[in-house]
Amino acid sequence: MEIKTSSSPIPEKLALKEAALWTAQNASRFDRAKSYTRKGLRQACEDGRLKAEKVGEGNRAVWYTTLEALEQFLTEETGPGRPTSAKKGVDAIMKPIAEKTGAEEAISASRQYQGMTLGLCNQKGGVGKSSIAAALAAVYAERGLKVLVLDSDPQGNVSLQLGVDAFERKLSGTISELYLERATVPELAVDTIVPGVSLIPATVELAEVEITLPSLVGSDLRLITALEKAREQYDLIILDSPPNLGKFCVNVLIASQWYLIPINDAWSLRSVAALIKVARKNASYYKTINKPAGIVMNMMERTRIKQEIKNSAQEMYPELLLQTEIRRSTLASEASAMSVPLPVYASNSPVTDDFHALADELAQRMRLILPSRAEKPLRAK
Ligand SMILES: Nc1ncnc2c1ncn2[C@@H]1O[C@H](COP(=O)(O)OP(=O)(O)OP(=O)(O)O)[C@@H](O)[C@H]1O
Ligand SMILES: [Mg+2]
Repeated sequence: MEIKTSSSPIPEKLALKEAALWTAQNASRFDRAKSYTRKGLRQACEDGRLKAEKVGEGNRAVWYTTLEALEQFLTEETGPGRPTSAKKGVDAIMKPIAEKTGAEEAISASRQYQGMTLGLCNQKGGVGKSSIAAALAAVYAERGLKVLVLDSDPQGNVSLQLGVDAFERKLSGTISELYLERATVPELAVDTIVPGVSLIPATVELAEVEITLPSLVGSDLRLITALEKAREQYDLIILDSPPNLGKFCVNVLIASQWYLIPINDAWSLRSVAALIKVARKNASYYKTINKPAGIVMNMMERTRIKQEIKNSAQEMYPELLLQTEIRRSTLASEASAMSVPLPVYASNSPVTDDFHALADELAQRMRLILPSRAEKPLRAK
């Protein structure tokens, strides 16, 4: 079946196959909603319960729906009088905040998590993938989300940035075990210096896995498979990737419903086209939905060259270039040196405001339910 998408890199129309996959990935966000098969959704289209567009006639008819219609359908399927998904979602997030402030332990047992996955990708090195991964994790956790970070880079930069030196601490449980299917996510996730952020760290030993991985069955699907059940335990899983388009990057792309592309110069902008192509090819081959959440300008400053890069990005990817820019700041390297995410290191700085704005803009695109910044003061251990 041909999958019809709009000219926008973010597909607006969903074939029922994609819609069924989306319900499987997102049903837990809705009160009492369940996953639907393609057949179940087709029935809902025919009954008029799910708003959809029919192309063709009879047995050959193909239905297309939209994310909005699907969300409305799942919300309505919960029946009259029950809370809407949005209300439920916000409650679900606000409850653990109450819990962290010392109240109601029992509430956490009833909490539902959003289970969203966000990759950080750009095969160009040094654009800020790991710094942004750690900073976003800190900001989202500060806003009350439960976050897991997966480090798929043998450099282990995001692990270090979150204060975990797995090599030094001689942690045997690293992401290598996940790639080799020797351990599960709950067995490997460790606490970080940021409350609310867990991590599966990487060490340089991951480089050895990269050599053996290609010969193993299902080597591109190791992360998405490992996250299948674990996703329900987190609101957001952030996946950092190495600066190449190899096996780890492909694993991250396939496991990520959304991927964010940081750029900081002309070369990193040039690499976006190839990255999106690789993501699309894999998504179509493995029948997954992996969408670009946006392109973010990092290390932005008021120079002519940066403005030119931004203008080119705007021209080439008008729907993808995010409004939020992360400014260049000397605090970034200080935070790295201190092994602390920037928003924790400098909570009241303009660059931290940038990260909060980025978290908001992304949440809106990904339909991630996120309490506002004012609702939660920054916590640091
Ligand atoms: N907004 C910023 N302002 C100034 N320096 C920054 C900023 N963001 C990141 N950096 C610095 O740029 C360098 C590269 O950042 P980072 O390691 O996050 O990039 P990366 O894309 O993950 O790199 P790699 O491709 O090697 O994994 C680091 O020294 C980091 O401190
Ligand atoms: Mg990195």
